[in-house]
Amino acid sequence: MITSAGCNALDYLLDDPAEIHAVDMNARQNALLDLKRAILATGDHERLFALFGDGASPRYRSILESVRHTLSAPAQAYWERRADYFDPGGTRGSFYYRGGSGLAAWLLRNAIVRGSRRHGELVDRLLNAPDRGEQRAAFSALEPVVWSGVTRWLVRQPSVMALLGVPRPQIRLILESHPGGLVGFVRDKLRHVMAELPIAENYFWRVYMTGRYTRSCCPNYLRREFAQVLAQRVDRIATHTTTVSGFLRDNPGDYTHFVLLDHQDWLAAHDPEALREEWELIFANSRPGSRVLLRSAAPDLSFVPKDIAKRLRWDTATAARLHPIDRVGTYGSMHVGEVL
Ligand SMILES: C[S@@+](CC[C@H](N)C(=O)[O-])C[C@H]1O[C@@H](n2cnc3c(N)ncnc32)[C@H](O)[C@@H]1O
Repeated sequence: MITSAGCNALDYLLDDPAEIHAVDMNARQNALLDLKRAILATGDHERLFALFGDGASPRYRSILESVRHTLSAPAQAYWERRADYFDPGGTRGSFYYRGGSGLAAWLLRNAIVRGSRRHGELVDRLLNAPDRGEQRAAFSALEPVVWSGVTRWLVRQPSVMALLGVPRPQIRLILESHPGGLVGFVRDKLRHVMAELPIAENYFWRVYMTGRYTRSCCPNYLRREFAQVLAQRVDRIATHTTTVSGFLRDNPGDYTHFVLLDHQDWLAAHDPEALREEWELIFANSRPGSRVLLRSAAPDLSFVPKDIAKRLRWDTATAARLHPIDRVGTYGSMHVGEVL
């Protein structure tokens, strides 16, 4: 699976897998998963929640120091340089407002709230909406504030999209498929997430909007009830800083599940030969029945070569049922396939 901060890998541990290989070409993503694993392994839930629930803690240095010796060398070096990401006194005040998408979220939040108590109250009213009716009413009051001239301008800037991890090939996929352009695409996705999906369970957007999780709205790995079982299983995860193709070339095997997130959108426009090579390596290192999960900014799988797509049975019913309730809600499509 793609590492990408590691929350998903830690969630899958709750399904009692034999092993998980978390692969990411961005070493920082693996350094982040390594740190989460190291703190989880101590079984000390309060320390874990201080950093990754609250996003910042006055004890951040002692918590990092307490697990430094259990980190891989690259992760040790990275967190020595970036320890202040968890400093509550920093300008942005939360780890979740650091990094590329963190900066974009911090800028957008400030552009929306910009010191207006009323705007801040509208955001809180939405996040704490007791039912769907109130949630829709809260969002319709907030939506005109969200779409000010500043935020429209920010959303149209490829540099802001790059900060959010949306590369140009993905922007092209969106512009080709959505009549309203980028602003229209983001507006529709946001309206669906904020007005149609239960906000109380949406930790993906709560962390963007507030820079932190709550005990009741957070990923499973941050829930106290899972601390012990995760502490026992974190050693089943191995992290690898390389590409998916690089990993499969160096670690041939018989993998039962492949979780590719949206990374093939990078390859689709940039390097179709590398996309084909990756699929060939997936087929060479799987068995009939192995499952593949991926998503895309594109509305369908047309970026996957036809002869490749034919070698999987696509569970379109499950994808059609799950995609509309995806709490991130910013993707064009998701796909569940089984190797034939
Ligand atoms: C946009 S992020 C995923 C975002 C977010 N976690 C999600 O699921 O919505 C895609 C991740 O894939 C990684 N990535 C992109 N291409 C890759 C490749 N060929 N091999 C391994 N990792 C890759 C990136 O470093 C990044 O962490």
